[in-house]
Amino acid sequence: MQKPASSIIVIFGASGDLTRRKLIPALFDLYRQNFLPENCAVLGVSRSTISDEQFRKRMRDELEKDSGAERKNITVFLKNLFYQSIDTAVVAEYAKLKKRLLEIDRSCHCGGNMLFYLSTPPNLYPVIPAMLEAHGLNRSAENGGWRRLIVEKPFGYDLASAMELNKTLLKYFSEEQIYRIDHYLGKETVQNILALRFSNGIFEPLWNRNYIHHVEITGAEALGVEQRGGYYNRSGAVRDMVQNHLLQIAATIAMEPPAVFGADAVRNEKVKVFQALRSIRTEDVSKQVVRGQYTASTIRGEKVAAYREEKDVPPDSRTETFVALRFYIDNWRWGGVPFFIRSGKRLPTRVTEAVIHFNRTPHSLFADTHSVNEGDNQLIIRIQPDEGILLKFGMKRPGAGFNIEQVGMDFHYSDLGPIDIPEAYERLLLDCLNGDGTLYARADGVEACWKFIDPILNAWRENPDIPLYGYPAGTWGPQEANRLFDNPGEDWRYPCKNLTGDGEYCEL
Ligand SMILES: NC(=O)c1ccc[n+]([C@@H]2O[C@H](COP(=O)([O-])OP(=O)(O)OC[C@H]3O[C@@H](n4cnc5c(N)ncnc54)[C@H](OP(=O)(O)O)[C@@H]3O)[C@@H](O)[C@H]2O)c1
Repeated sequence: MQKPASSIIVIFGASGDLTRRKLIPALFDLYRQNFLPENCAVLGVSRSTISDEQFRKRMRDELEKDSGAERKNITVFLKNLFYQSIDTAVVAEYAKLKKRLLEIDRSCHCGGNMLFYLSTPPNLYPVIPAMLEAHGLNRSAENGGWRRLIVEKPFGYDLASAMELNKTLLKYFSEEQIYRIDHYLGKETVQNILALRFSNGIFEPLWNRNYIHHVEITGAEALGVEQRGGYYNRSGAVRDMVQNHLLQIAATIAMEPPAVFGADAVRNEKVKVFQALRSIRTEDVSKQVVRGQYTASTIRGEKVAAYREEKDVPPDSRTETFVALRFYIDNWRWGGVPFFIRSGKRLPTRVTEAVIHFNRTPHSLFADTHSVNEGDNQLIIRIQPDEGILLKFGMKRPGAGFNIEQVGMDFHYSDLGPIDIPEAYERLLLDCLNGDGTLYARADGVEACWKFIDPILNAWRENPDIPLYGYPAGTWGPQEANRLFDNPGEDWRYPCKNLTGDGEYCEL
């Protein structure tokens, strides 16, 4: 792995949850592995008036929660951590920021390179770049030092706002300077889909409509909305998970092999997939998309509140906490192959996986005379937890006759020994410092995803008759999600059973 050029990382929203829980620990891990630049400083920025020392203390408390982290290492890492309080919405305040940046750049020998990370409420995403521009902080320094901008999700609320945001960002930074973070793309197992597909000869000949029957992607969470009811209620499962993370996984599975492994080549192929997504017509939304919301239930003897009883959620909320959809990619490779995506909160377990279902044999040779549990061949790509890959196929059970049973050939990351799987933020921050945008979302890709999602959200908003199904917390969502499959006997893969609950399936 390449060591990046010396630089300053400026985090806007430094007193927030993401900085504390993800960004600083990721930077510390990079430091521990000697991946941070030779000269590197981190400047936290937000409105709270705290000193450098107070900021360091807060971050130390978080880093010390990791029992593996040595105090000595933490102390050295924290030396180059600074804090600046400004009101990010006020242009004059940026003079203070600029002065501080120049001082740090000089004292830490950062070479004029600056990475700005937007980890604030999204209403500031268009504001901060404009302010940086007003103070000339968006363009290369006189000594050639680079400027980059990382933008956190959400990238807009719908197609119109996403386009507006892109337009604004592009006024102040060029596309090559902008890194839209989707932390799923930084997950080791999502990257491994690329390795699986493009470093092995055996899959490519089968990876198309002639051999693949359908593709299923699940992003399940066992938790409810916790303390983030207000945020979630404005978002819902489609905006929170499908528009970004799960469509990105679908594109990684569906894309054509790029000619080279580079940011533009890889993202060009993904964008082609997004652009080939067949739009779901308003009249088909209720046939191809099922929405649900969790109701109260009892899980392992403990009462679990309904979504509508969560903090900051209105008692008549119609926000979906579950969504399942069937869609198509209209191109030569995938013509006619249904893709299924399912995501929800308060499902029986936390799991993200993609399942490639291959066609069954054209004739079932053993079915008439013998006991057969044939199933279809499945390639299961487990993204989290218990990261790995499993291939399922039928084998003869030893003994008389021809009794066929499904068996699995599997690989778990844990089989590689005690290897730490790097946190997604670690990989993505390092890539950005190295100027590599391969695992970041690009403006045209984000807009193409919204173009596909918008009609679903519009149909729900404009047709309140489209049902919102209640499902008891701890189950795999509304039973109606099963009717998305065309053929009797086809169903989702259930990595575990419903947790026993006494909740109610109903229409809300
Ligand atoms: N937390 C996560 O796990 C997560 C995951 C993915 C994406 N995100 C996204 O990342 C962003 C940050 O999330 P978060 O959870 O860290 O939010 P948060 O805990 O609410 O923190 C927001 C930060 O923005 C600062 N801020 C708010 N208004 C400001 C203003 N006018 N001027 C300057 N600073 C201001 C706040 O500090 P002051 O009040 O001190 O100014 C605080 O540091 C959000 O857009 C969120 O959607 C978060």
